Amino acid sequence: MQEKIDALQAEVLAAIQAAENPAALEEVRVAYLSRNGQVPALLAGMKDVPKEERPIVGKRINELKSAVEAAFDGRKSALEDAAGEGGDHDPTLPGRMPPHGTLHPVLALRDRCIAIFRRLGYALAEGPDIDTEWHNFDALNTPADHPARNEQDTFYLDETGLDSLPPLEPAGEGPAPALGRRLLRTHTSTVQIRTMLRQKPPVRIIAPGRCYRRDEIDATHLMSFTQCEGLAVDEGVSLADMKGTLEFFFRELLGPDIVIRFRPHFFPFTEPSFEFDISRPGQTIKGKQWLELGGCGMVDPEVLIAVGIDPEQYTGWAFGFGLERLPLVLHAIPDIRAFVENDVRFLQQLG
Ligand code: FA5
Repeated sequence: MQEKIDALQAEVLAAIQAAENPAALEEVRVAYLSRNGQVPALLAGMKDVPKEERPIVGKRINELKSAVEAAFDGRKSALEDAAGEGGDHDPTLPGRMPPHGTLHPVLALRDRCIAIFRRLGYALAEGPDIDTEWHNFDALNTPADHPARNEQDTFYLDETGLDSLPPLEPAGEGPAPALGRRLLRTHTSTVQIRTMLRQKPPVRIIAPGRCYRRDEIDATHLMSFTQCEGLAVDEGVSLADMKGTLEFFFRELLGPDIVIRFRPHFFPFTEPSFEFDISRPGQTIKGKQWLELGGCGMVDPEVLIAVGIDPEQYTGWAFGFGLERLPLVLHAIPDIRAFVENDVRFLQQLG
């Protein structure tokens, strides 16, 4: 009898493990555990066991029953888990959350810049990434022989196969100037032109967006990066307004201890022109005290003329700075390439 019980236990356990789906498992249950199954049949055979052996055999049969029931329950839940959604599921269990995405740190920074300038009354303006030589250079008083226009510095588009793009829009009144080749804009200053063509002063806009240059990639240069342009044109607008606005903006964005300095520089579209750097006392960036962030100046009268605004009546100032460089100060990140490598571990820390 003992051997018979052992053999049956081994047989049932093997059958349970071999059941590959709930239906097969149910067949095993019916075959062995149901009223007419083989396990109850064992109990029925007890009457043939000698009286003195009955307690031992009865105990052994109960052990078999417990082992078989435990194996049965275990297999049942394993099959249900494997079936996932399809199986009976417990709706009271907490759900599985898919990982949350976040804004890319540069986009989050862009939104903070927009929010600060909104408070100062600036509107958001946009322009296309693919623009024309006229918008990117000529209208911004940049002569044809300027080094930035060189094939080596700017991505010009091969015009073949571009028929699906909208036609170039006419620029201003009077005879339309030659718009030249299409290119990937090298700066967001194109939006100054597009805005002033549409809107007469007073103008107060900021225009964040992507720019493209054939620059050598290093810790502070990418070939595709984000600039934030600002433009204010009105009667009696002065350099003092620009300085005060930029100082206020960077203190709001980076903290009250941020220092900003203006260095004389040259841009064809502003006169006078400056580059501006920022610094945080006690912090160095790549061993340097100051980080170059952007350019600015009073809008050159030639630019106002190109968009049909009278420079005798109106003056304006403009600035443009790189957004990827800001986190070098904000989060002490040593290399801007981290923003385009798409390493989720890095992006999540700032998300
Ligand atoms: C300009 O692009 C001017 N349009 C700025 C300007 C606007 C001047 C309005 C006057 C009036 P610049 O080439 O210096 O200037 O670029 C401005 C900033 O863009 C740089 O200081 C830097 O922060 C960022 N930048 C430029 N090239 C790159 C690059 N390859 N990678 C990352 N950031 C860059």
